[in-house]
Amino acid sequence: MNSSSALMLGPSAPDLARAADLLRQGACVAFPTETVYGLGADATNGRAVAGIYEAKGRPSFNPLIVHAADVATAQRYVDWSDEAETLARAFWPGPLTLVLPLRADADVSPLVTAGLDTLAIRVPAHPTARALLKEFGGVVAAPSANPSGRISATTADHVRDGLGGRIAAIVDDGPCEVGLESTILGFGEDRKPVLLRPGGLGVEEIEGVLGGPVQRRAPSATLNAPGQMLSHYAPKAAIRLDAPSAERGEILIGFGEMPCDLNLSPEGDLAEAAANLFGHLHLADRDGRPIALAPIPKTGLGLAINDRLARAAAPRD
Ligand code: TXA
Ligand code: MG
Repeated sequence: MNSSSALMLGPSAPDLARAADLLRQGACVAFPTETVYGLGADATNGRAVAGIYEAKGRPSFNPLIVHAADVATAQRYVDWSDEAETLARAFWPGPLTLVLPLRADADVSPLVTAGLDTLAIRVPAHPTARALLKEFGGVVAAPSANPSGRISATTADHVRDGLGGRIAAIVDDGPCEVGLESTILGFGEDRKPVLLRPGGLGVEEIEGVLGGPVQRRAPSATLNAPGQMLSHYAPKAAIRLDAPSAERGEILIGFGEMPCDLNLSPEGDLAEAAANLFGHLHLADRDGRPIALAPIPKTGLGLAINDRLARAAAPRD
């Protein structure tokens, strides 16, 4: 069992001042975003960033997303482009991460990019995340606040259960609205947009704004989101996908109207299902029975939901 020694904070101004102070001192602080809870550290401080890898047990080759309070701050760290401008105007603040060339003068610990010459950056929409970033005054590196390879955290309780004994503080501001990590978009050598990770922003929406197709697969290994290893988001129990019904001894997570133990969305709404996904996996995991999952459509947010489920069900090391 993980003993919980993390300081529990809320979204009040004095609490966020405290959280910002801890970040300045190089500590790791978990905070809510609209997607999932992040485990934050000062992105310019190598020792602080190392603390994230240590707390999560994260392979050191897996780079982190940097969080900025606003677009102007983000522009100080990456080479901006017309496409970035269009996307930022349409979707920031929000669940979109852009992978862009790291500016030569950017003060970011090399541990954040894991040695790549690109930086993944986003401006989160959650008011508490934005207030914390503003109060801190710099950029914060933050992966999802779960032990590496496990289910992402969408409540402060999930964070406390997974990492409570290993981090300085947790800012609790209720459950995350989107429930899936941000969509990660990179650009090929021809500057064509490439989907590196499906997520909380539907790729169709991005295509609508860019006025053209987004490539679904990275053309080269270096462009791939390195964190997209097959087994990820894994509950402790075995998990079986596209299950129309439970087999003996399974706990069934349903979608749409059907007999089941937990339902992602009785109305068959993909946004609701996304918001419930990690929470239901945490609940099923606590139950201990093997998990069966009903089929989920593969359009819109369903693309990201199926991506997370495929990783959750993948053979483990
Ligand atoms: O919604 C989110 O994105 C959440 C919240 C906390 O912001 N964060 C998150 O971070 O999901 P994490 O560390 O769990 O996932 C980051 C992903 C990994 O797959 C990583 O490999 C990829 O981003 N990534 C980071 N930097 C990259 C880069 N320079 N090029 C390509 N992929 C990168
Ligand atoms: Mg993660």
